[in-house]
Amino acid sequence: MTALIHGSPKAAGGNSEKILQLLEKRLTGPCVRVDTVRTGPETWEALADCEAAVVIFPLYVDSLPSHLLRFFMEWEMDRREQQRRALSLYAVAQCGFYEGEQNRIALEQVSCFCRKAGISWQGGVGLGGAGGFAEMPEALLKPLTGVISSLAEAVNRKEELPSLQFASVGLPRWLYLAAGNQSWIRGAKRFGLKKRELYQKP
Ligand SMILES: Cc1cc2nc3c(=O)[nH]c(=O)nc-3n(C[C@H](O)[C@H](O)[C@H](O)COP(=O)(O)O)c2cc1C
Repeated sequence: MTALIHGSPKAAGGNSEKILQLLEKRLTGPCVRVDTVRTGPETWEALADCEAAVVIFPLYVDSLPSHLLRFFMEWEMDRREQQRRALSLYAVAQCGFYEGEQNRIALEQVSCFCRKAGISWQGGVGLGGAGGFAEMPEALLKPLTGVISSLAEAVNRKEELPSLQFASVGLPRWLYLAAGNQSWIRGAKRFGLKKRELYQKP
């Protein structure tokens, strides 16, 4: 059994959810989904039944969302107290910045957690330009789905990823930034704000 750990605080419809679905479709064995916002004894029991897990999370301030840090701390405590069986962990970090490399330190943080919790770190992927992932057409997602497929193959074969892998959305950087800026302006308009009001300072 493989646990798919949803590491975003967004309940549904977010980018981590979309990536989780793409990964799930490519996995051949049985999977169980694990929530990181609402946890309880059943969370740790479900994880204890798995031989592998993949955590998919958004980058928050160059690190992990705080609820995910709490989740890792509780998980580590459970593994220590209950003497759980061996487990392999992979990670997908995704972010709004264009460069997938931006996720490197957060992935290294997950590897540190593995060391402390007695989990076997199997490597991870960092996806950049994922800000509009959930709404983007398939063609633009190709570089990202490529590394998600490599990750799925590693999980299916129970192998370690050869190294951290990084990818970015299939758009030139300038175009991704221009589209991002436009979406901020459109979003502001929906709330009755003008573009110049986005630049207001206290
Ligand atoms: C509080 C907060 C902090 C963020 N910090 C970063 C950051 O440091 N670097 C970055 O590239 N994106 C950052 N982002 C953007 C998210 O990583 C990005 O939008 C991600 O795709 C959201 O995924 P989700 O829909 O699964 O929550 C931040 C978003 C939020 C809400």
